[in-house]
Amino acid sequence: MKIPGPVVLDLSFWKRRRVLVTGHTGFKGAWLSLWLQSLGAEVTGISRGVPTSPSLYELARVGAGMRELTADVCDAGAVREAVRAARPELVLHLAAQPMVRRSLHDPVATYAVNVMGTANLLDAVRTDGEGVLGVVVVTSDKCYENAGERGQRFIESDPLGGSDPYSSSKACAELVTAAYTRSFFHAGGAPAVASARAGNVLGGGDWGEDRLVPDTVRAVEAGRPLQVRNPGAVRPWQHVLSPLSGYLRLAQELAVDPERRAARAWNFGPPAGDEQTVGRVIELLQDLWGGELQWQRDERENPPEASHLALDSSAAEQLLGWRPAWPLQDSLELVVDWHRAHRDGQDMRAVSLEQIARLRS
Ligand SMILES: NC(=O)c1ccc[n+]([C@@H]2O[C@H](COP(=O)([O-])OP(=O)(O)OC[C@H]3O[C@@H](n4cnc5c(N)ncnc54)[C@H](O)[C@@H]3O)[C@@H](O)[C@H]2O)c1
Repeated sequence: MKIPGPVVLDLSFWKRRRVLVTGHTGFKGAWLSLWLQSLGAEVTGISRGVPTSPSLYELARVGAGMRELTADVCDAGAVREAVRAARPELVLHLAAQPMVRRSLHDPVATYAVNVMGTANLLDAVRTDGEGVLGVVVVTSDKCYENAGERGQRFIESDPLGGSDPYSSSKACAELVTAAYTRSFFHAGGAPAVASARAGNVLGGGDWGEDRLVPDTVRAVEAGRPLQVRNPGAVRPWQHVLSPLSGYLRLAQELAVDPERRAARAWNFGPPAGDEQTVGRVIELLQDLWGGELQWQRDERENPPEASHLALDSSAAEQLLGWRPAWPLQDSLELVVDWHRAHRDGQDMRAVSLEQIARLRS
Protein backbone atom coordinates (compact mmCIF):
# COMPACT_ATOMS: atom_id res chain seq x y z
CA MET A 1 0.00 0.00 0.00
CA LYS A 2 1.25 3.46 -0.89
CA ILE A 3 2.25 5.80 1.93
CA PRO A 4 -0.42 8.53 2.17
CA GLY A 5 0.39 12.21 2.46
CA PRO A 6 0.58 13.59 5.98
CA VAL A 7 -2.64 14.51 7.72
CA VAL A 8 -1.83 17.76 9.44
CA LEU A 9 -3.35 17.10 12.85
CA ASP A 10 -1.74 18.47 15.98
CA LEU A 11 -1.91 15.57 18.44
CA SER A 12 -1.37 17.82 21.45
CA PHE A 13 -4.33 19.93 20.29
CA TRP A 14 -6.75 16.99 20.47
CA LYS A 15 -5.68 15.50 23.78
CA ARG A 16 -8.51 15.96 26.33
CA ARG A 17 -10.34 18.27 23.88
CA ARG A 18 -14.10 18.20 24.59
CA VAL A 19 -15.78 17.29 21.31
CA LEU A 20 -19.48 16.80 20.56
CA VAL A 21 -20.25 14.53 17.60
CA THR A 22 -23.87 14.33 16.42
CA GLY A 23 -24.71 11.09 14.62
CA HIS A 24 -21.89 9.16 16.36
CA THR A 25 -23.62 5.78 15.88
CA GLY A 26 -23.71 6.17 12.09
CA PHE A 27 -21.11 5.03 9.61
CA LYS A 28 -19.08 8.25 9.43
CA GLY A 29 -19.81 9.26 13.02
CA ALA A 30 -18.54 5.94 14.37
CA TRP A 31 -15.25 6.18 12.44
CA LEU A 32 -14.88 9.81 13.54
CA SER A 33 -15.61 9.02 17.20
CA LEU A 34 -13.11 6.17 17.15
CA TRP A 35 -10.48 8.43 15.62
CA LEU A 36 -11.13 11.16 18.22
CA GLN A 37 -10.85 8.55 20.99
CA SER A 38 -7.50 7.44 19.57
CA LEU A 39 -6.36 11.10 19.68
CA GLY A 40 -7.25 11.28 23.38
CA ALA A 41 -10.26 13.60 22.97
CA GLU A 42 -13.17 13.55 25.42
CA VAL A 43 -16.00 12.69 23.07
CA THR A 44 -19.72 13.03 23.64
CA GLY A 45 -22.11 11.67 21.03
CA ILE A 46 -25.75 12.48 20.28
CA SER A 47 -27.80 10.11 18.20
CA ARG A 48 -31.26 8.68 17.81
CA GLY A 49 -30.04 5.08 17.95
CA VAL A 50 -27.97 2.83 15.71
CA PRO A 51 -29.10 3.07 12.08
CA THR A 52 -28.01 -0.39 10.87
CA SER A 53 -27.43 -3.89 12.13
CA PRO A 54 -24.67 -4.96 11.98
CA SER A 55 -22.87 -1.63 12.47
CA LEU A 56 -19.36 -0.33 12.83
CA TYR A 57 -20.56 1.38 16.01
CA GLU A 58 -21.39 -1.96 17.68
CA LEU A 59 -18.61 -4.08 16.20
CA ALA A 60 -15.89 -1.58 17.12
CA ARG A 61 -17.47 -0.91 20.56
CA VAL A 62 -17.40 2.82 19.82
CA GLY A 63 -19.70 3.67 22.73
CA ALA A 64 -17.22 2.20 25.23
CA GLY A 65 -14.78 5.09 24.75
CA MET A 66 -17.15 8.04 25.00
CA ARG A 67 -20.15 9.59 26.67
CA GLU A 68 -23.44 9.05 24.85
CA LEU A 69 -26.72 10.93 24.84
CA THR A 70 -29.92 9.96 23.10
CA ALA A 71 -31.48 13.06 21.58
CA ASP A 72 -33.51 13.83 18.49
CA VAL A 73 -31.97 16.77 16.67
CA CYS A 74 -35.52 17.78 15.68
CA ASP A 75 -36.20 18.46 19.39
CA ALA A 76 -34.68 21.91 20.04
CA GLY A 77 -34.90 21.57 23.83
CA ALA A 78 -33.18 18.18 23.85
CA VAL A 79 -30.36 19.51 21.65
CA ARG A 80 -29.87 22.50 23.97
CA GLU A 81 -29.72 20.18 26.96
CA ALA A 82 -27.18 17.95 25.20
CA VAL A 83 -24.97 20.94 24.39
CA ARG A 84 -25.17 22.11 28.01
CA ALA A 85 -24.28 18.63 29.27
CA ALA A 86 -21.37 18.10 26.87
CA ARG A 87 -19.82 21.60 27.28
CA PRO A 88 -17.99 21.06 23.98
CA GLU A 89 -15.10 23.08 22.63
CA LEU A 90 -15.73 21.67 19.18
CA VAL A 91 -18.89 20.36 17.55
CA LEU A 92 -19.03 18.09 14.50
CA HIS A 93 -22.58 17.80 13.18
CA LEU A 94 -23.17 14.60 11.21
CA ALA A 95 -26.64 13.52 12.35
CA ALA A 96 -28.86 13.33 9.28
CA GLN A 97 -31.19 11.34 7.11
CA PRO A 98 -28.52 10.60 4.45
CA MET A 99 -30.32 8.51 1.82
CA VAL A 100 -31.66 9.84 -1.51
CA ARG A 101 -34.17 7.02 -2.00
CA ARG A 102 -35.55 7.37 1.54
CA SER A 103 -35.87 11.13 0.99
CA LEU A 104 -38.18 10.40 -1.95
CA HIS A 105 -40.39 8.26 0.28
CA ASP A 106 -40.32 10.64 3.23
CA PRO A 107 -39.29 14.12 2.09
CA VAL A 108 -40.74 15.99 5.07
CA ALA A 109 -38.89 13.89 7.64
CA THR A 110 -35.70 14.35 5.60
CA TYR A 111 -36.09 18.14 5.63
CA ALA A 112 -36.95 18.05 9.34
CA VAL A 113 -33.77 16.20 10.34
CA ASN A 114 -31.38 17.73 7.83
CA VAL A 115 -32.56 21.34 7.90
CA MET A 116 -34.25 21.94 11.26
CA GLY A 117 -31.80 19.55 12.92
CA THR A 118 -28.97 21.79 11.71
CA ALA A 119 -30.84 24.95 12.80
CA ASN A 120 -31.51 23.43 16.24
CA LEU A 121 -27.88 22.49 16.68
CA LEU A 122 -26.58 25.92 15.65
CA ASP A 123 -29.19 27.60 17.82
CA ALA A 124 -28.19 25.50 20.83
CA VAL A 125 -24.59 26.58 20.26
CA ARG A 126 -25.79 30.21 20.02
CA THR A 127 -27.80 30.12 23.25
CA ASP A 128 -26.03 27.49 25.37
CA GLY A 129 -22.66 26.95 23.73
CA GLU A 130 -20.41 28.86 26.10
CA GLY A 131 -16.86 27.73 25.40
CA VAL A 132 -17.55 26.42 21.89
CA LEU A 133 -14.65 27.42 19.63
CA GLY A 134 -15.76 25.85 16.37
CA VAL A 135 -18.56 23.97 14.62
CA VAL A 136 -18.26 21.81 11.48
CA VAL A 137 -21.60 21.19 9.74
CA VAL A 138 -21.35 18.16 7.46
CA THR A 139 -23.46 18.51 4.33
CA SER A 140 -22.74 16.79 0.99
CA ASP A 141 -21.33 17.12 -2.51
CA LYS A 142 -24.96 16.77 -3.60
CA CYS A 143 -25.71 20.31 -2.32
CA TYR A 144 -24.68 21.82 -5.69
CA GLU A 145 -27.03 22.64 -8.57
CA ASN A 146 -26.02 19.78 -10.84
CA ALA A 147 -26.91 19.58 -14.52
CA GLY A 148 -24.78 16.44 -14.80
CA GLU A 149 -22.31 18.16 -17.11
CA ARG A 150 -19.30 15.91 -17.70
CA GLY A 151 -15.97 17.34 -16.71
CA GLN A 152 -17.41 19.91 -14.31
CA ARG A 153 -15.72 19.93 -10.90
CA PHE A 154 -17.69 21.92 -8.34
CA ILE A 155 -15.96 24.65 -6.38
CA GLU A 156 -17.38 26.05 -3.15
CA SER A 157 -18.78 29.23 -4.75
CA ASP A 158 -20.89 27.28 -7.28
CA PRO A 159 -24.68 27.65 -6.97
CA LEU A 160 -26.46 25.41 -4.48
CA GLY A 161 -29.39 23.29 -5.64
CA GLY A 162 -30.45 19.68 -5.56
CA SER A 163 -33.26 18.05 -7.51
CA ASP A 164 -34.27 15.44 -4.91
CA PRO A 165 -35.29 16.15 -1.30
CA TYR A 166 -32.04 14.79 0.20
CA SER A 167 -29.81 16.92 -2.03
CA SER A 168 -31.89 20.05 -1.59
CA SER A 169 -32.08 19.48 2.20
CA LYS A 170 -28.30 19.58 2.25
CA ALA A 171 -28.31 22.80 0.19
CA CYS A 172 -30.81 24.18 2.74
CA ALA A 173 -28.51 23.13 5.60
CA GLU A 174 -25.76 25.12 3.86
CA LEU A 175 -28.03 28.19 3.70
CA VAL A 176 -28.97 27.84 7.37
CA THR A 177 -25.30 27.56 8.29
CA ALA A 178 -24.37 30.62 6.23
CA ALA A 179 -27.21 32.69 7.76
CA TYR A 180 -26.29 31.69 11.34
CA THR A 181 -22.67 32.52 10.61
CA ARG A 182 -23.49 35.98 9.24
CA SER A 183 -26.08 36.76 11.91
CA PHE A 184 -24.60 35.30 15.09
CA PHE A 185 -21.15 33.80 14.64
CA HIS A 186 -19.15 36.47 12.84
CA ALA A 187 -17.61 38.42 15.70
CA GLY A 188 -14.45 37.62 17.64
CA GLY A 189 -15.28 35.46 20.64
CA ALA A 190 -18.18 33.72 18.88
CA PRO A 191 -17.66 30.14 17.66
CA ALA A 192 -16.21 29.87 14.14
CA VAL A 193 -18.57 27.84 11.95
CA ALA A 194 -17.79 25.99 8.71
CA SER A 195 -19.49 23.48 6.44
CA ALA A 196 -17.89 20.44 4.83
CA ARG A 197 -19.00 18.96 1.51
CA ALA A 198 -17.86 15.47 0.61
CA GLY A 199 -19.53 12.45 -0.88
CA ASN A 200 -19.56 8.80 -1.81
CA VAL A 201 -17.37 7.55 0.96
CA LEU A 202 -16.16 3.97 1.10
CA GLY A 203 -14.99 2.14 4.17
CA GLY A 204 -15.32 -0.97 6.23
CA GLY A 205 -18.36 -1.22 8.44
CA ASP A 206 -20.93 0.50 6.21
CA TRP A 207 -24.22 -1.41 6.09
CA GLY A 208 -26.31 1.58 4.90
CA GLU A 209 -29.12 0.77 2.49
CA ASP A 210 -28.77 1.68 -1.19
CA ARG A 211 -25.04 2.26 -1.19
CA LEU A 212 -22.68 0.53 -3.56
CA VAL A 213 -20.11 -0.95 -1.20
CA PRO A 214 -22.61 -2.12 1.47
CA ASP A 215 -24.72 -3.65 -1.33
CA THR A 216 -21.56 -5.42 -2.54
CA VAL A 217 -20.81 -6.80 0.93
CA ARG A 218 -24.41 -8.00 1.33
CA ALA A 219 -24.30 -9.66 -2.12
CA VAL A 220 -21.01 -11.44 -1.35
CA GLU A 221 -22.24 -12.56 2.08
CA ALA A 222 -25.54 -13.85 0.65
CA GLY A 223 -23.89 -15.42 -2.43
CA ARG A 224 -26.25 -13.60 -4.81
CA PRO A 225 -25.58 -11.11 -7.65
CA LEU A 226 -25.25 -7.42 -6.85
CA GLN A 227 -28.07 -5.32 -8.37
CA VAL A 228 -26.54 -2.22 -9.99
CA ARG A 229 -28.76 0.71 -10.83
CA ASN A 230 -26.50 3.09 -12.71
CA PRO A 231 -23.18 1.56 -13.84
CA GLY A 232 -22.25 4.58 -15.99
CA ALA A 233 -22.66 7.20 -13.23
CA VAL A 234 -19.45 8.99 -12.25
CA ARG A 235 -18.88 9.66 -8.54
CA PRO A 236 -16.06 11.16 -6.45
CA TRP A 237 -15.19 7.98 -4.49
CA GLN A 238 -12.94 8.25 -1.47
CA HIS A 239 -12.13 6.34 1.68
CA VAL A 240 -14.22 7.54 4.63
CA LEU A 241 -11.10 8.47 6.60
CA SER A 242 -10.16 10.96 3.89
CA PRO A 243 -12.98 13.51 4.42
CA LEU A 244 -12.92 12.74 8.16
CA SER A 245 -9.28 13.85 8.25
CA GLY A 246 -10.52 17.02 6.53
CA TYR A 247 -13.24 17.57 9.15
CA LEU A 248 -10.67 17.19 11.95
CA ARG A 249 -8.15 19.43 10.23
CA LEU A 250 -10.90 22.01 9.69
CA ALA A 251 -12.14 21.84 13.30
CA GLN A 252 -8.59 22.35 14.52
CA GLU A 253 -8.18 25.38 12.28
CA LEU A 254 -11.51 26.89 13.41
CA ALA A 255 -10.35 26.67 17.01
CA VAL A 256 -6.90 28.17 16.61
CA ASP A 257 -7.14 30.86 13.93
CA PRO A 258 -8.21 34.22 15.40
CA GLU A 259 -8.77 35.53 11.87
CA ARG A 260 -11.49 32.88 11.34
CA ARG A 261 -10.26 32.15 7.81
CA ALA A 262 -11.60 28.60 7.99
CA ALA A 263 -15.16 29.77 8.76
CA ARG A 264 -16.58 29.04 5.29
CA ALA A 265 -17.63 26.09 3.11
CA TRP A 266 -15.05 23.47 2.09
CA ASN A 267 -15.00 20.63 -0.45
CA PHE A 268 -13.21 17.42 0.49
CA GLY A 269 -13.00 15.23 -2.61
CA PRO A 270 -10.78 12.43 -3.89
CA PRO A 271 -7.59 12.87 -5.90
CA ALA A 272 -8.14 13.75 -9.57
CA GLY A 273 -8.69 10.53 -11.52
CA ASP A 274 -10.63 8.82 -8.74
CA GLU A 275 -13.91 10.13 -10.11
CA GLN A 276 -14.80 6.80 -11.64
CA THR A 277 -17.93 5.12 -12.91
CA VAL A 278 -19.88 2.77 -10.68
CA GLY A 279 -19.04 0.03 -13.22
CA ARG A 280 -15.28 0.58 -12.78
CA VAL A 281 -15.56 0.41 -9.00
CA ILE A 282 -17.43 -2.89 -9.32
CA GLU A 283 -14.69 -4.29 -11.59
CA LEU A 284 -12.04 -3.36 -9.01
CA LEU A 285 -14.13 -4.91 -6.22
CA GLN A 286 -14.63 -8.08 -8.28
CA ASP A 287 -10.83 -8.45 -8.49
CA LEU A 288 -10.45 -7.86 -4.77
CA TRP A 289 -13.21 -10.30 -3.78
CA GLY A 290 -11.57 -12.92 -6.03
CA GLY A 291 -14.60 -14.21 -7.91
CA GLU A 292 -17.04 -13.95 -5.00
CA LEU A 293 -18.82 -10.92 -6.50
CA GLN A 294 -21.23 -11.15 -9.45
CA TRP A 295 -23.48 -8.30 -10.64
CA GLN A 296 -26.47 -7.55 -12.83
CA ARG A 297 -28.40 -4.45 -13.85
CA ASP A 298 -31.14 -3.35 -11.40
CA GLU A 299 -34.24 -2.99 -13.60
CA ARG A 300 -36.47 -1.58 -10.84
CA GLU A 301 -37.65 2.03 -11.03
CA ASN A 302 -34.77 4.07 -9.64
CA PRO A 303 -34.59 7.63 -8.38
CA PRO A 304 -33.23 10.18 -10.86
CA GLU A 305 -29.58 10.83 -10.15
CA ALA A 306 -26.95 13.13 -11.62
CA SER A 307 -24.80 11.20 -14.10
CA HIS A 308 -21.65 13.09 -13.13
CA LEU A 309 -20.48 14.46 -9.80
CA ALA A 310 -16.96 15.70 -9.12
CA LEU A 311 -15.44 18.06 -6.57
CA ASP A 312 -12.54 20.50 -6.70
CA SER A 313 -10.83 20.44 -3.30
CA SER A 314 -7.96 22.74 -4.12
CA ALA A 315 -9.07 25.28 -1.47
CA ALA A 316 -8.75 22.65 1.29
CA GLU A 317 -5.45 21.47 -0.13
CA GLN A 318 -3.94 24.94 -0.44
CA LEU A 319 -5.39 26.71 2.60
CA LEU A 320 -5.81 23.87 5.13
CA GLY A 321 -2.89 21.73 3.93
CA TRP A 322 -5.32 18.82 3.64
CA ARG A 323 -4.55 15.89 1.32
CA PRO A 324 -6.90 13.14 0.13
CA ALA A 325 -5.90 9.98 1.96
CA TRP A 326 -5.67 7.00 -0.36
CA PRO A 327 -6.22 6.39 -4.08
CA LEU A 328 -9.32 4.41 -5.03
CA GLN A 329 -7.58 1.04 -5.42
CA ASP A 330 -6.03 1.30 -1.93
CA SER A 331 -9.33 2.49 -0.44
CA LEU A 332 -11.16 -0.52 -1.87
CA GLU A 333 -8.43 -2.85 -0.58
CA LEU A 334 -8.96 -1.43 2.91
CA VAL A 335 -12.71 -2.04 2.64
CA VAL A 336 -12.33 -5.66 1.53
CA ASP A 337 -9.62 -6.28 4.20
CA TRP A 338 -11.98 -4.90 6.86
CA HIS A 339 -14.89 -7.11 5.81
CA ARG A 340 -12.68 -10.21 5.48
CA ALA A 341 -11.41 -9.53 9.02
CA HIS A 342 -15.02 -9.27 10.18
CA ARG A 343 -15.90 -12.54 8.48
CA ASP A 344 -12.87 -14.15 10.17
CA GLY A 345 -14.15 -13.06 13.58
CA GLN A 346 -11.34 -10.59 14.33
CA ASP A 347 -11.60 -7.80 16.94
CA MET A 348 -13.08 -5.04 14.77
CA ARG A 349 -12.18 -2.25 17.19
CA ALA A 350 -8.51 -3.23 16.82
CA VAL A 351 -8.82 -3.64 13.03
CA SER A 352 -10.50 -0.23 12.67
CA LEU A 353 -7.98 1.53 14.92
CA GLU A 354 -5.17 -0.06 12.93
CA GLN A 355 -6.63 1.38 9.68
CA ILE A 356 -6.86 4.81 11.33
CA ALA A 357 -3.25 4.51 12.52
CA ARG A 358 -2.13 3.83 8.92
CA LEU A 359 -3.38 7.28 7.97
CA ARG A 360 -1.51 8.90 10.81
CA SER A 361 1.76 7.11 10.17
N1 LIG B 1 -22.06 8.12 3.71
C1 LIG B 1 -21.90 8.90 2.64
O1 LIG B 1 -21.51 8.45 1.55
C2 LIG B 1 -22.15 10.39 2.75
C3 LIG B 1 -21.91 11.19 1.63
C4 LIG B 1 -22.11 12.59 1.73
C5 LIG B 1 -22.54 13.13 2.91
N2 LIG B 1 -22.80 12.33 3.99
C6 LIG B 1 -23.26 12.98 5.22
O2 LIG B 1 -22.45 12.54 6.32
C7 LIG B 1 -23.26 12.48 7.50
C8 LIG B 1 -23.17 11.10 8.12
O3 LIG B 1 -23.62 10.14 7.18
P1 LIG B 1 -23.59 8.58 7.49
O4 LIG B 1 -23.36 7.90 6.21
O5 LIG B 1 -22.66 8.32 8.62
O6 LIG B 1 -25.12 8.35 7.96
P2 LIG B 1 -25.72 7.18 8.88
O7 LIG B 1 -27.13 6.97 8.46
O8 LIG B 1 -24.82 6.02 8.92
O9 LIG B 1 -25.74 7.84 10.34
C9 LIG B 1 -26.63 8.87 10.67
C10 LIG B 1 -26.48 9.23 12.13
O10 LIG B 1 -27.39 10.30 12.42
C11 LIG B 1 -28.20 9.93 13.52
N3 LIG B 1 -29.52 10.51 13.37
C12 LIG B 1 -30.39 10.38 12.33
N4 LIG B 1 -31.51 11.06 12.57
C13 LIG B 1 -31.34 11.67 13.78
C14 LIG B 1 -32.14 12.52 14.58
N5 LIG B 1 -33.34 12.92 14.17
N6 LIG B 1 -31.64 12.94 15.76
C15 LIG B 1 -30.42 12.54 16.18
N7 LIG B 1 -29.62 11.74 15.48
C16 LIG B 1 -30.07 11.31 14.28
C17 LIG B 1 -28.27 8.39 13.50
O11 LIG B 1 -28.64 7.89 14.79
C18 LIG B 1 -26.82 8.09 13.11
O12 LIG B 1 -26.01 8.18 14.25
C19 LIG B 1 -24.67 12.87 7.07
O13 LIG B 1 -24.84 14.25 7.31
C20 LIG B 1 -24.68 12.58 5.58
O14 LIG B 1 -25.64 13.33 4.89
C21 LIG B 1 -22.61 10.97 3.94
